[in-house]
Formats: sequence, C-alpha cells, structure tokens
Amino acid sequence: MIDIHSHILYGIDDGSQSLDMSLEMLRMSAASEVTDIFATPHVNRRGVVPEWSVIVDKTAELQQQAQDVGIPIRIHTGAEVELNYDTLEFIKEGSRDYCLAGSRYILCECTAQSQPDQAEALLYELMLREFVPILAHPERYDRIMTRPSRVLEWMHNGVLAQCNTGSFKGSFGKDTQLRAENLLRHHMVIFLGSDAHRTEARNTDMREGLQAIEAMGDTDAEDTCTWNAERILEDRVLYPELPEHWDKPKKGIFSRIFGA
Ligand SMILES: [Fe+2]
Repeated sequence: MIDIHSHILYGIDDGSQSLDMSLEMLRMSAASEVTDIFATPHVNRRGVVPEWSVIVDKTAELQQQAQDVGIPIRIHTGAEVELNYDTLEFIKEGSRDYCLAGSRYILCECTAQSQPDQAEALLYELMLREFVPILAHPERYDRIMTRPSRVLEWMHNGVLAQCNTGSFKGSFGKDTQLRAENLLRHHMVIFLGSDAHRTEARNTDMREGLQAIEAMGDTDAEDTCTWNAERILEDRVLYPELPEHWDKPKKGIFSRIFGA
C-alpha cells in the first residue's frame, strides 16, 4: 500500500508534534502494510508557505531516524498545497518544488467553503503549467460536492483525486462517508491517503478504512490505488478509466415516499 497524503513531519504544520510522534505514526503505517508514504505538510494555509528546502531536509532527516530505529518504510517528499490565488505565486512552471517526490503530480487542497469556479480556474492554470493536480479528499468539500459531476468533468480533463481511507469508516461524518462511497462507485478514487495528523484519531493506520472499502465489495481498490501511486514515483502519466456520467445515487424508500 502507498499512502500519498500524511502530516508525518514534525514541527512544520498542525500534524505531528514531535519526533516520537512521527516515528510512532510511521510504525502504524508499516503495520498497515504501507511500504511508501508521502510527507505532505500544509502549504499556503493562511498564507504560510514553508521553504521547499525545509520540507526536503525534514523528510530526509525523518527517513534517517526511521531507519535508525528499524522502521521499514520509504518516505517521499511532498506538500498539500491549498488552492487560492497566492498558489500561482510559488507554483512555478518548470519547477517541481512542492510536487510529490519530484514528479509532475501536485496534491491540492480546497476547503469546505471553496467556490467551485475558483477551484476550477486554479486547477486548469496548474495544468497549463504542466502539472497534474491531485485533488485531496474531494469528499470533504461541501460546496464542490453539491455537484459531483463537475469533479468528474475536471477528472476527464486531467485532474486526479485522492480520498481519505478514514472517510470510508465514517471518521468525518456520514455525509462525507456517503460522498466517498459514491466517488468509489464511480471509479473516481485514484489514490488513497491516511491524511494522518496524529497517533490518535486521524492516524496512519489505514486498515479499518481499507476494510470498509472491501466491505463495499470493492476488492481491487487498494491494489489499483497502489499501482497508480507507483506511477507518481516513476513520474509517468496516468489515464484512469472514468465513467462518462455521474449517476445520481438511487434514493432510499423514505426519500421516494417523502420526496426528499
Ligand atoms: Fe492533509
């Protein structure tokens, strides 16, 4: 398994608080059979943009510290870049700073309040600059997910999507869980990530989330997402098979009777 989204670096964002916590998070990852994990600290949240060289150095340090205590896991550089108009100031054409493991793939975050038009304009601008944006946890964006067909349109045009394993076990509430399930049913979950911030609650243990995905009858998702993440490590282009249309999920009997 490859976890493409985590906050395992300590002292850089609201994720891990200490070296001990980072190492414990990595132990949990390895116990979930994660072989590779991307360190993706928040970048551009409330205007805070850590230097890329700091992220690179901290990732290398943590890799060494994990190796010293015998945790079998590879750590790759990355960032979770919040999309707003400042983003275009530091994501520069031709540079791979803030991308995943020096590839063309860049993990992008919106917020629950993000306006779909603005997000769309920024995603397209990044693609014009020859990046491949990966939308982090779309299931968490209330406004954008009022019309999921729009996310599918973005994906037809080259955007990819990563869902949080925790969303499938209900860690972010029922609405988010239903959205994640519908994205999975539409083959729109291209990557999986823990989005872990701590050793408790939102942690790096992906097992329960993966079990919830399997319980939906999707036994291929884990392997497919791992295969896709390997393409990031090779910096190769991905062309996932996507449905042509977003099918409205079938309504339950109460909705049909009461017209909700
Ligand atoms: Fe995150």
